[in-house]
Amino acid sequence: MATMKDVALRAGVSTTTVSHIINDTRYVSEDLRRKVMDAIAALNYQPHGPARSLRTKRTRTIGMIIPDNSNPFFAEVARSVEDAAFDNQYNVILCNSDGSPVKELNYLHLLIEKGVDGLAFISAGKDPRSIDLLSQQSIPWVVADREIPKVKADEVLVDNLDGGLQATHYLLSLGHRRIGCIAGPRQLTPSFERLTGYQRALAAAGIAVDPEMIRHGDFRSSSGYDACQALMRHREPPSAIFACNDLMAIGALKAAHDSGLGIPQQLSIIGFDDIAWSAFTFPRLTTMAQPKQEMGRLLTAWLVERIKNDQLPQRRRMLAAKLMVRDSCAPLETAWVRQGHP
Ligand code: RIB
Repeated sequence: MATMKDVALRAGVSTTTVSHIINDTRYVSEDLRRKVMDAIAALNYQPHGPARSLRTKRTRTIGMIIPDNSNPFFAEVARSVEDAAFDNQYNVILCNSDGSPVKELNYLHLLIEKGVDGLAFISAGKDPRSIDLLSQQSIPWVVADREIPKVKADEVLVDNLDGGLQATHYLLSLGHRRIGCIAGPRQLTPSFERLTGYQRALAAAGIAVDPEMIRHGDFRSSSGYDACQALMRHREPPSAIFACNDLMAIGALKAAHDSGLGIPQQLSIIGFDDIAWSAFTFPRLTTMAQPKQEMGRLLTAWLVERIKNDQLPQRRRMLAAKLMVRDSCAPLETAWVRQGHP
């Protein structure tokens, strides 16, 4: 068990300095604070009861890290967190990791050094350095949206596999058999689970999964545009596409339009997230609605409770995605008849 003296030796400072930093009882430079915090993380130092309890100076601030602040999904979750935090007299410091493990780690250090009382974490991609740092420091934290296996933190997630099953079942119910999938980044759990739901739904319908009908984007619109164009250039193009998030589905809508394809007459497209924009595309996007407000409210409530009592048992909630039918999907027979097919 590392001691405060071990931390001081590793950081090259006195134990008094370590104590002041842990208990926030004296101003120190960011550089010195960073050295001590790094030593604490590296040694997995756990302040003794009194030292921890001496850190009574609450900042009434919650830190939140999201992977892409230009993606309305994360913005809407962050907005819900901020509303719930404000209702509990907490402020929020919002950081954008931009999908970069390096930026994510830097922001985690910053938030810990700023002394946030709790941390809401949507990971850029399960980087072990970030998970180790979060696991070793003493600030309460909650994982949202992107599951991190075996982590000792509360988790608020969505059943992505069921969401992928629902989306694909819906297209199958419209008579589609040749269904493409624009999946997200391979390393991200939500994308893998939605793609698995797509594959299981086809298998359950007795349809062999054609690997050429699966394309991977980066959860941004331009990758959805390119993936849709590639699918529609296939010698046997799909009559429907499941895009694993709305931004890629919106890119696919644009690609279909630029290719002269009528939506949904010649191609049905369904997305995932139900960001606010999806009700304003043309045609309006049919999608799987993620409970973003509920996710934000719940993770904030759990975080505030844990700030007050970090002995609470670990909690995990799996929320449900719900089908939101709008105008971008149509039954196959209708589409083919409109195309004048026999
Ligand atoms: O749109 C971004 C995607 O990444 C969302 O579907 C969300 O689940 C996040 O993980």
